[in-house]
Amino acid sequence: MGDGLDGRRVLVFGASGNVGYGAAQAFLAAGAQVIAPTRSPASAEALRAHFDGAIEPVIGDISDPNGAASLADAVAERGPIHHAFVSLGPWWQEGPLVRQTPDEWLRVRRMMLDGHVHAAMLFIPMLASAGGGSYTVVTGMGAHHYVPGTSLLFAAVGGVLSLSKVLRSEHADDDVRVNELLISARVERTARPGVVEAVRLGEFAASIARDEALRGEVLTFDGSAR
Ligand SMILES: NC(=O)c1ccc[n+]([C@@H]2O[C@H](COP(=O)([O-])OP(=O)(O)OC[C@H]3O[C@@H](n4cnc5c(N)ncnc54)[C@H](OP(=O)(O)O)[C@@H]3O)[C@@H](O)[C@H]2O)c1
Repeated sequence: MGDGLDGRRVLVFGASGNVGYGAAQAFLAAGAQVIAPTRSPASAEALRAHFDGAIEPVIGDISDPNGAASLADAVAERGPIHHAFVSLGPWWQEGPLVRQTPDEWLRVRRMMLDGHVHAAMLFIPMLASAGGGSYTVVTGMGAHHYVPGTSLLFAAVGGVLSLSKVLRSEHADDDVRVNELLISARVERTARPGVVEAVRLGEFAASIARDEALRGEVLTFDGSAR
């Protein structure tokens, strides 16, 4: 399609979920090659089948230091990357903090905060060494509102929001354009009343990646196009 993403290699976290799935669809439609980390061989197989072999899954757990390192090796072996879109989930709302356990905190924190820290540590340098590109951190409106029962998730998301802010300032003047995509709509693979189809969000994400003037921004997706 020759719109700036044609032939570019894009790393998309979360392609087996809702948000990353829409991003993978939109980047593929724009002519990009999509590399999709997932923790599970079954998800990798499902992604290959679903996207008719057009997507390259890589297996690894970004929340674990060793898993993250082997994921980075697997991505590097396949060649340079030009854009990264980092969406990690799932939603968590398991009740009051006083009913939670330290082990559950560790699990939720690893999934959300450690995953984002490791991804930035490993893949921003990879983008820089390929000559620069975009790095998009996905967050949600929920992080700015009080929602009962979400303590562990929101404690970790608070760290992701701070991380995003610091990364956006640390890379304000170099070749890696770090932006945050803040989702304020409900997004699922298929549209239904009150729910936006994930590919619309994906098109918004692709527009951030291709816009070379965009860096250090927080872009809110409310279901409308950019
Ligand atoms: N969907 C919405 O309406 C919405 C709204 C606002 C904000 N958001 C934000 O968007 C993000 C994603 O939401 P979602 O609805 O797409 O979640 P989801 O459907 O539950 O998908 C979560 C994805 O994260 C991946 N993932 C989690 N931990 C991972 C790890 N350690 N290593 C590699 N991949 C990992 C999963 O991959 P595997 O399971 O294959 O490993 C899965 O593809 C979340 O941060 C959420 O807060 C979503």
